[in-house]
Amino acid sequence: MSFYSQDLVEEIRSRSDIVDVISGYIKLQRKGSNYVGVCPFHNDRNPSMSVNQPRQIYRCFSCGAGGDVFKFVMEYENLSFPEAVKVLADRAGIALPQQEYSGEAKRQSDLKAQIMEMNRLAARYYYYTLRQPEGQQGLDYLLGRQLSKETLQKFGLGYADKYSDSLYRYLKGKGYTDQQLKESGLVQVDEKRGMYDKFWNRVIFPIMDIQNRVIGFGGRVMGDGKPKYLNSPETKVFDKSRNLYGLNLARMSRKPNIILCEGYMDVIAMHQAGFHQAVASLGTAFTARQSLVLKRYTNEVLLTYDSDEAGVRAALRALPILKDAGIAAKIINMEPYKDPDEFIKALGAEAFQERMDKAEGSFFFELRMMEREYDFSDPERKTAFFRALSERLLQFEAGVERQTYLEAAAKKYDLAENQLAHMVDQTGRKLGGGPRAPVHAQTGQQKRKKTEDAGLRSQRLLITWMSSDAKTFRSICKYIEPEEFTDPLCRKVAELLQDQWKSGRLNPASLFQYFTEEEEQQKVSAMLYDTIPKLSGKEEEEKALQETILRVKSASIAWQTEHMDPNNVETLQKIVQKRREIEKLHISLD
Ligand code: UTP
Ligand code: MN
Repeated sequence: MSFYSQDLVEEIRSRSDIVDVISGYIKLQRKGSNYVGVCPFHNDRNPSMSVNQPRQIYRCFSCGAGGDVFKFVMEYENLSFPEAVKVLADRAGIALPQQEYSGEAKRQSDLKAQIMEMNRLAARYYYYTLRQPEGQQGLDYLLGRQLSKETLQKFGLGYADKYSDSLYRYLKGKGYTDQQLKESGLVQVDEKRGMYDKFWNRVIFPIMDIQNRVIGFGGRVMGDGKPKYLNSPETKVFDKSRNLYGLNLARMSRKPNIILCEGYMDVIAMHQAGFHQAVASLGTAFTARQSLVLKRYTNEVLLTYDSDEAGVRAALRALPILKDAGIAAKIINMEPYKDPDEFIKALGAEAFQERMDKAEGSFFFELRMMEREYDFSDPERKTAFFRALSERLLQFEAGVERQTYLEAAAKKYDLAENQLAHMVDQTGRKLGGGPRAPVHAQTGQQKRKKTEDAGLRSQRLLITWMSSDAKTFRSICKYIEPEEFTDPLCRKVAELLQDQWKSGRLNPASLFQYFTEEEEQQKVSAMLYDTIPKLSGKEEEEKALQETILRVKSASIAWQTEHMDPNNVETLQKIVQKRREIEKLHISLD
């Protein structure tokens, strides 16, 4: 949350028109009552970002990015909220009271800036050293790995010389304190040696965020020493779970997919071969956060993990994470080579492109890996495999999705579809401990999910309605209370809107600061950005509103019924009472 008073934030907002501010970063064009432009938060050529001036919010209909003017600046410049406030205050010529930007907030934000600056200086220092006589060994190593001078430059590769305090002394000379240097992760302390460099006698791979700022480093030994790579520790600016090596370049590649590799060297080799869409995680397993970051730029990820056992395991772990983010994953087979670096060295870019074109869908890859564990010549093992296959099929949502994969699997293993379907049912029954609906029919659970979805849609729609203007808000809040929203996010928005209303002014754009999670912000921006379809008159509008409110209230009652203590007579009576009330409900928009 903010370290500034709400009044000050609102003052800055009122003097930072969202269309003016965003126009400073990207080109906006008027379209009807909105403005549109090419979204800077994902890889796109089409104007999918829309800016709504009356509501002072923006939303990208392609990647889902959205928010108010502060959010835009935070996202675009990769800043914290207080930092974005400062940028917009400066822009509007509003002086920030010193005490408001002091204390912990200021210390943190200063520290971040200092670490970024130390990283930048360190990267330059390593880069320079690689090109000096003392860097010769590093240069020989990198050139020996067939990297071109141009590639070395593009990735800013460098060299940490063989003294263990060169960087320390260099940065001390720039005036940084031991404490600051420790926070940067570039320097370590131990009792005997005092302060010494994290990296020495290694070639250096600077790690950049999407704004091309150096956030950390990887350092490789020039040979077979151990550990092969050292990586910067996490710092105030280096979060390994949400950054990806090479994404600063890949996001601009204008390719239809992203190639996810295991290592720094793979990414570099791929880029050098013309595959500018390659990225890698940072010496750690691929995370859900990273998958959400990738989702901004692409709907398809091609995995080129090492073909050894560890690589396969890592790929199998990454697949469900990608799927959850809504990304279709395929796996590139590089056999007989170990990784893309070796593959390209041996067979070249064209051959790699062929392998890309032939990449295997994640489901078939999983099956192929599963097959390895079963000996098909043994009938018992073969049956066990089909049971495992059935279990895998049960992980798909019942209905069209599961049916599609079932058909494909039946074909692959030369089984009759109904035979496999029968096996899936049986397995499902065994796992679920009770009879299950056949795969084709809709399960009870699914039906329930559908009504829940409809309930959620109505709640979101109602929020859109409530936030559209003050008059409408006043009418609606006569009929509904925030606690009647069963969806926690909708409830929170409703509460915040009500607070704003009570304190005198409805201001939807200012709601964003209360939501810190990317996912929440996207959902909130969707609700606030949506518009209510034009209705032909007051009567029709009342009717539509009535239906929506009824659905929200019914969902609330259904929830209470499900969660109440059946022995509590009082609650039961309250619920019965509420049911009667909604039957008589008549909405009027006056
Ligand atoms: P690899 O061993 O596959 O390295 O590890 P690589 O990038 O292909 O490099 P070369 O070709 O052998 O020189 C993959 C990634 O795992 C992390 C690094 O991020 C590396 O790029 N890793 C590996 C470490 O962090 N530490 C290690 O000791 C080894
Ligand atoms: Mn490798």
